[in-house]
Amino acid sequence: MQFEDKIIASDAERTDLLRELVEESVSTYQIPGAAFDNYHIKRGLREPDGTGVMAGVTRVCNAHGYVINEGERTPVDGELYYRGYRMSTLCENFVKENRFGFAETCYLLFFGHLPTKEQLEKFTRLISSYEALPARFDEDILMKAPSKSIMNKMATGVLSLYAYDEDPDTTTLENMLRQSMSLIARVPIIAAHSYAVARNVFGGHSLNLNNPRPELSTAENFLRMLRPDKSYTDEEAKLLDLCLVVHAEHGGGNNSSFACRVLSSSGTDTYSAISAAIGSLKGPRHGGANIKVQEMFDDIKAGVRNPRDDEELTRYLLKIMEGKAGDGSGLIYGMGHAIYTKSDPRALMLKRHARDLAEKKGFGEDFALLEAIERLTPEIFREYKGINKQMCANVDLYSGLIYRMLNIPEMMYTPLFAIARVAGWCAHRMEEFITAKRIIRPAYKCITPGRDYIPLDKRR
Ligand code: COA
Repeated sequence: MQFEDKIIASDAERTDLLRELVEESVSTYQIPGAAFDNYHIKRGLREPDGTGVMAGVTRVCNAHGYVINEGERTPVDGELYYRGYRMSTLCENFVKENRFGFAETCYLLFFGHLPTKEQLEKFTRLISSYEALPARFDEDILMKAPSKSIMNKMATGVLSLYAYDEDPDTTTLENMLRQSMSLIARVPIIAAHSYAVARNVFGGHSLNLNNPRPELSTAENFLRMLRPDKSYTDEEAKLLDLCLVVHAEHGGGNNSSFACRVLSSSGTDTYSAISAAIGSLKGPRHGGANIKVQEMFDDIKAGVRNPRDDEELTRYLLKIMEGKAGDGSGLIYGMGHAIYTKSDPRALMLKRHARDLAEKKGFGEDFALLEAIERLTPEIFREYKGINKQMCANVDLYSGLIYRMLNIPEMMYTPLFAIARVAGWCAHRMEEFITAKRIIRPAYKCITPGRDYIPLDKRR
């Protein structure tokens, strides 16, 4: 059977056709909540008490936020360990020793131990040797089809690196390590250059594709590439470096690391697995929450006359939770976590540094508002949801304020998270590939009954 007229006459006709199809499909995408209960589905791969379904064994990282006491989930202060080292201890020592820590953190995540001076030096030299994009990569990949979403360009950029790799598919540890180190070096350049392109195309600014310098740290290079005049202070770069260390890793079960593990378990290449992880991190319930916090923050400032008035702020936060203010999702971004209950160690670390910088830079009011959101939300949440669940600020509540104080544009908040998390993703990919040896393949219960085929001209 042939259809005579396949040409759509106007945008209005296309809109009508689309609307018709949407109306037809609404019921297709409805599954009653009871079906999930009947088949004991662990929604979001969570146990009924909210804890994650155990999906693997890892040596990379431990994010710890509760203990199970006599079958009950009992809140405790959050702890985060990279290869057995407390993330906060690493940060405190990097700060105390006044040095950059991100490269060392990558080394730790990749090789499982803290490097000696010589090992660190060799590692950073190796990373620097990859710190350039392939010839014509800017023109062919980043400048064509520019996007306002830098995360989207980063995912496309990483995926495209496959075509420039002479040995993209070999999955020996040696080859995966080589690719991982090159990604640590190149992802920041892809992010900074994509931003420069977006700024040029959508903002009318001149195009500055600044390149990294081998003697500089990732944080210094990022600021140098981001800013048209390439200038930054040592204090700014060290604070950004700290943010990278804080965001570098968070266990195998977080959405993007799990996505990376899912892809890796199929035997696919490094670029496919890492670009999928970038896509996952972009989501507003994951890394994309740091932009959402900023938007929510601006919305609160516009909607609350006196942010210092707890009662007025409480009323507004409740409106957000009811879906009547903010982005309508009902979420107070920057609050809540799948693992952490009493505190998120990353939020504590960033809060401490945000407070110091806010005092110096005159952002005290902004800091106070975030602190008030952190203080008031748990009670509002408990009352509104009617559940006695402990909730704390997560990593995204204060990171945006730090970035804002560092003059980093909003569209680079989630990309910065991705630049840091490449380290964790690569470690998980290598571990999954080498140790798990099974394709990740959970099951879905299909509740659509079988149907008989009806010829096209007999359908109603
Ligand atoms: N604001 C409003 N409601 C929230 C909330 C928040 N910050 N965090 C959780 N909830 C709600 C959930 O939507 C869910 O509601 P429902 O049962 O009506 O569907 C309920 O509380 C239970 O959720 P919970 O199991 O505690 O959360 P989770 O483990 O599924 O999700 C997050 C964890 C991080 C995804 C969730 O807390 C969230 O969406 N926070 C805001 C986004 C954010 O900051 N993300 C960054 C994470 S680092």
